[in-house]
Amino acid sequence: MKVIKTIAEMKQLRKNLAEPVGFVPTMGYLHEGHLSLVRQARADNPSVVVSIFVNPTQFGPHEDFERYPRDTQRDLALLEKERTDIVFMPSAAEMYPAGFNTWVEVSKITQRLEGACRPGHFRGVTTVVAKLFNIVQPARAYFGQKDAQQAIVIRRMVADLNMNLEIITLPTVREPDGLAMSSRNTYLNPEERRAAAVLYQALSTVKRLYFQGERNAAYLRQHMTTIIHKQPQASIDYVSIANHETLEELDTVTPPALVSLAVRIGKTRLIDNIVLE
Ligand code: PAJ
Repeated sequence: MKVIKTIAEMKQLRKNLAEPVGFVPTMGYLHEGHLSLVRQARADNPSVVVSIFVNPTQFGPHEDFERYPRDTQRDLALLEKERTDIVFMPSAAEMYPAGFNTWVEVSKITQRLEGACRPGHFRGVTTVVAKLFNIVQPARAYFGQKDAQQAIVIRRMVADLNMNLEIITLPTVREPDGLAMSSRNTYLNPEERRAAAVLYQALSTVKRLYFQGERNAAYLRQHMTTIIHKQPQASIDYVSIANHETLEELDTVTPPALVSLAVRIGKTRLIDNIVLE
């Protein structure tokens, strides 16, 4: 496994990789969710590149960029075990040198849900992912359903800009109590960690009611809200039942629908979702 820090060296090494190249972009502090993507990339491709880059442009001014968890030595050991070929971990100055002035922006679907709560977030994501795609030139890139809107936005960018790669979305990996794995779960104290199970409880309840025949989206959103409000630690940023493609809120649930939510547990903001097929 080679660890590369400059774009020039990454591009040079890229020339000698066996095709096709599978790519997993991450911000590090890796967990089983990330590793499930790496394993699938390993199974599908003769070459696997993983990036670790805590991308400053996708964090808002009052968000957690500075304290985002980092553990490079542990990450590298995990990636070595998964037989990663190259880990690309550039500095912020390498990715955004003085004079950097170009942005990739997907409109409309980025204004909803996470985009409404985190202005500029998706502009940072699409810009860095487009740059990483240009540098790594993968045939396939792997994303988690955990960040459903991100995967939808990336697919839109790839289609709209005619990028030559396939986007593969893989299921959310969860803890035994249903909490979606996330690098940010490390912010939770033991009491908050127990309370955080409420996100998946709310989603599971909607799923059950849907399969019992409930199609009234307002009723289902209200039901989720009630469940979350029973947890005194939790405050809701949004609960949504939206069209899976346009992300417009639904009146009547028609599949595939994206049920998603963002909830603060104490100071920690968590997101999760399920798709009703
Ligand atoms: P990060 O949060 O590190 O996530 C990297 C990838 O892992 C994303 O595709 C995310 O959806 C996936 N992932 C995270 N938790 C998961 C889980 N519990 N199950 C399955 N997959 C999971 O997402 C980002 O980084 C950044 O926005 C990035 C795309 C790297 C651009 O900076």
